[in-house]
Amino acid sequence: MWYSSIVDTVGNTPLVRLNTFNKNIPGTILGKVEYFNPGQSVKDRIALKMIEDAESRGDLKPGGTIIEGTSGNTGMGLAMVAAVRGYKCVFTTTDKQSMEKVNLLRALGCEVKICPTNVEPDDPRSYYSVAKRLKEEIPNSWYPNQYDNLSNRQAHYEMTGPEIWEQTEGKITHFVAGVGTGGTITGTAEYLKEKNPDIKVIGIDSVGSIYKSYFETGVFDKRHIAPYLTEGIGEDIIPENVDFSLVDDVIQCPDREAFVTTRILARKEGLFVGGSCGSAVWGAMQFIRKHPMKEDDVMVIILPDSGTRYVSKIYNDEWMRTNGFIDEGSSMEVEEVVRLRGDNSRELITVDKNDTLEHCIVLMNRHNVSQLPVMDGENLVGSLNETRILSLLTESPEMRNKPVGDVMEEPLPVVSNDLKIDQITRMLSGGVAAVIVKQDNNKYTIITRSDLINAISKSMS
Ligand SMILES: Cc1ncc(COP(=O)(O)O)c(C=O)c1O
Repeated sequence: MWYSSIVDTVGNTPLVRLNTFNKNIPGTILGKVEYFNPGQSVKDRIALKMIEDAESRGDLKPGGTIIEGTSGNTGMGLAMVAAVRGYKCVFTTTDKQSMEKVNLLRALGCEVKICPTNVEPDDPRSYYSVAKRLKEEIPNSWYPNQYDNLSNRQAHYEMTGPEIWEQTEGKITHFVAGVGTGGTITGTAEYLKEKNPDIKVIGIDSVGSIYKSYFETGVFDKRHIAPYLTEGIGEDIIPENVDFSLVDDVIQCPDREAFVTTRILARKEGLFVGGSCGSAVWGAMQFIRKHPMKEDDVMVIILPDSGTRYVSKIYNDEWMRTNGFIDEGSSMEVEEVVRLRGDNSRELITVDKNDTLEHCIVLMNRHNVSQLPVMDGENLVGSLNETRILSLLTESPEMRNKPVGDVMEEPLPVVSNDLKIDQITRMLSGGVAAVIVKQDNNKYTIITRSDLINAISKSMS
C-alpha cells in the first residue's frame, strides 16, 4: 500500500489513553495525537481543505502564491501541500511564536515575515494586516485567511469528527479542544452533536484571551485581553469559524499550568507535544473536577501539535525559569512532605454533603483540623473551613442545622504525589487552605501550610 504523495497521509491520527491523568478517575480519557499528521499538527487538515476548495473555486491558480497569517502550524500544513502542488508561500507570523516554527517554514522554502505581537489586530503592523496588504501587492496570490475561511471548520466536520466517532465506536461523551481560529472545535462538534446531541463540548482558552468572557457574556470586552505565551489558542478577535452555540463550557488555562502539564505529558505519557496540548489536558482535568466522569464516559482531547516546536521554550529549563514557570526552589515532592509528617496511612477525614454543619464542627474538633473536604459518595464536591463556618454562624446560629452541601465552598485542589512543593507553596499562598494529595495507594491525604512548614524545617535539620 503506498500514497501518491505525502498529502494523502493527512488525518486518521491515533487516539491514545492518557494513563497518568486517567488514574483514579472513572471513565476513559483519550488524547487525539495530531502530531501524527505529516506536517506534525492538526492544521494539515485545514491546509489541504482550504487549498482544494480554493482550487475548485478558481481562487488559487497554477504557479500562484499563498499568503497567510499563521502561528506557524497552518503555515507548515500549507507549505507541505504547496510543495507538492507547486505553489509559493509567504507567511506573516508574530514575534511570540517560537523560532523553531519560523525556521521550519523557511526550511520548506517559504518566505516568513515576523510582526509585533502586542499591536491591535487592525494596526498596519499586525500579522493580520501585513498578510492582507501582501495579498494586494503580490500578483496571482491567494489569501486563505484561516480565521474567516469556513473551509477550516468544514475540514473538521468532514475529517476529525467522523474519525473520532468511528475510533470511539460512537461511545464518546466529552470532546475537548483548544480554541484558536475555532475551526477544530466548531467543525468537530457540529458533526459529533449531529450524531449524539448529548455529547459535552469543552473549549480551552488561554488567560489573556477574549474567548471565555465572550462565551459567557456575548460581549467583546477588550479589558480581558492581555499578553500570554501559550501559542495557537486564544484570540483578540472573534473569527467567523467560531460557533460557541455548539460549545457547553469554556475553560481558561494560565501559561504556567499549560507548560507544566505539557512537560508531564512528555515525561509521564511519552507524548512529546506542544503547549496548547498541556492547556487542553489541564482544562479537561478542571472540567472533570467540576463535573465528575462516570464509568462509561469517554473523553477525547485534541492534542494539536508536537513538542519539536517548543524545545527552546517549554522544554528548556532556563526559559521556563526566566519566565517564572519553574523555580530554582526545592525539588522536594509532596510524597516527602507526607512521609516527613509520619502518618501517610492516616485516613482522610471528610464530611458528607448531607451531614449537618453541626456534625462537621464536631468532626473538626474531634480531629483537631481546620478544614474538611466534602464528599458526595466517592467524589470530592466541596470543602468547608473554619473561616467559612465562622461567617455562617455569625450570620445565624441556625445555620448549624443546614446540610453541608448547601453551605460548602469549592473543592480543595487535588494534586499528584510527585508535584514539587514549590507549586503547592504557590497554591497555599494564593488563598487555598489546603490541598488534597492523591497517593499511589489510591488513598487521599491532605496537606496544610503547617505540614509544609514542618517538612521544610525538618528537611533543613
Ligand atoms: C498549537 C495549536 N493549538 C491549537 C490550535 C487551535 O486550533 P483552531 O485554530 O482549529 O481553533 C492551533 C491553531 O492554530 C494551534 O496552532
